[in-house]
Amino acid sequence: MKVQNVCVLGATGSIGESTLDVISRHPERFKVYALSAYSRIGKLVEQAVSSAAPVVVVPDDEAARSFRSRWPAGRPIPEIRIGAEALVATASDPEVSTVMAAIVGTAGLPAALAAARAGKRVLLANKEALVAAGGLFMQAVRDSGAELLPIDSEHNAIFQCLPEDAERARAPQRPAKGVRRLLLTASGGPFRTTALDALHDVTPEQACAHPNWSMGRKISVDSATMLNKGLEVIEAHWLFAMDADRIEVVIHPQSLVHSMVEYEDGSILAQLGQPDMRTPIAYGLGFPERIDSGVGLFDLARMQKLDFEPPEPERFPCLTLAYEALRAGQSSCISLNAANEVAVDRFLAGRIRYTEIPQIIGECLERLESVSCRPTTLEDVLEHDRHARAVAAELCLLRA
Ligand SMILES: NC(=O)c1ccc[n+]([C@@H]2O[C@H](COP(=O)([O-])OP(=O)(O)OC[C@H]3O[C@@H](n4cnc5c(N)ncnc54)[C@H](OP(=O)(O)O)[C@@H]3O)[C@@H](O)[C@H]2O)c1
Repeated sequence: MKVQNVCVLGATGSIGESTLDVISRHPERFKVYALSAYSRIGKLVEQAVSSAAPVVVVPDDEAARSFRSRWPAGRPIPEIRIGAEALVATASDPEVSTVMAAIVGTAGLPAALAAARAGKRVLLANKEALVAAGGLFMQAVRDSGAELLPIDSEHNAIFQCLPEDAERARAPQRPAKGVRRLLLTASGGPFRTTALDALHDVTPEQACAHPNWSMGRKISVDSATMLNKGLEVIEAHWLFAMDADRIEVVIHPQSLVHSMVEYEDGSILAQLGQPDMRTPIAYGLGFPERIDSGVGLFDLARMQKLDFEPPEPERFPCLTLAYEALRAGQSSCISLNAANEVAVDRFLAGRIRYTEIPQIIGECLERLESVSCRPTTLEDVLEHDRHARAVAAELCLLRA
């Protein structure tokens, strides 16, 4: 068995930690080659010690100094690479075979794209990369022969329910044969049953208290607004070559059915499992083999019922906005994602209200409608992203 040399981008985050947990269970299969962090340098030191990573990537000189000063005396210190360019270089480093793309937000796009261009096995958790640059990303996978394995639990579930095909991990040009629809499940988040008029006053802590999953703060807020599900609809569009009309979202509060594929003959295949990201991560790392993820037995007898319900548009306006952006084209998807990142940041900082998140995204999409373009390079994408962020920041200031 060939050992995979793994680079974990965003190692200090929730997905990064789960990835290191799965890797540590299979020393004969995986070696950690590189780890990246942004602000949690103490945690990076701990991870680099326990995984014996030869390389770490940090954002700036200050973080590098902090890493050195915390490193335990007497141990050989890893090579410290610095800055966003170092992230890109490490993701495409010839020593690396597998890249876990788990940086949050558009900040993760350049390195994830570099990994795809370099023909790596890319385990894609960073959904924002596909939302902002789906066309470019899938083209890079096709051109380089990279393997793309979706880590988002919904897309991983769909991937598992699609027909067996040796080319499954390559970029599809058209939907898999016989597939009628994709059914993405959503928990509905912490405010699924909250009175609509109470949403105005919810706090960041309440929004981050997801009923089933333990995740980073940004994706937790996205789950509450269901913008996360909207990003996933766009992600599914690119990953599985499906039009918006053939991707449906259904609320499933227990988060045990992770998504479904409906076939032409009426059959529906679903993937079930505990809400633990180590399952899709282990699937991606081991593909096409199944490996232990550390997730325990699923107790079917205790699973008393599985509920499904449609999402209410007035409760989850962000979901509608995401469908509109997907139908409008790539530049609207970039605007949607950028405006959301800014609005969620301001909400978490206590500067805007929860209910202002969709308003800011909607206004930003409207303002940028006329700047619609078809970005063909990474620089085009980042330029449009910067523009949308500036507009969204201004809209937030007007409300603060
Ligand atoms: N968590 C889940 O269950 C889950 C499920 C599906 C998909 N995803 C997706 O996976 C990605 C990661 O989510 P998460 O929940 O793991 O997020 P998280 O816990 O917030 O972790 C984010 C990681 O990105 C790093 N980071 C943040 N800003 C950065 C920047 N500007 N440049 C470089 N690195 C940066 C963070 O470093 P520091 O911590 O050192 O600051 C951290 O390692 C997101 O795209 C999310 O949508 C997550």
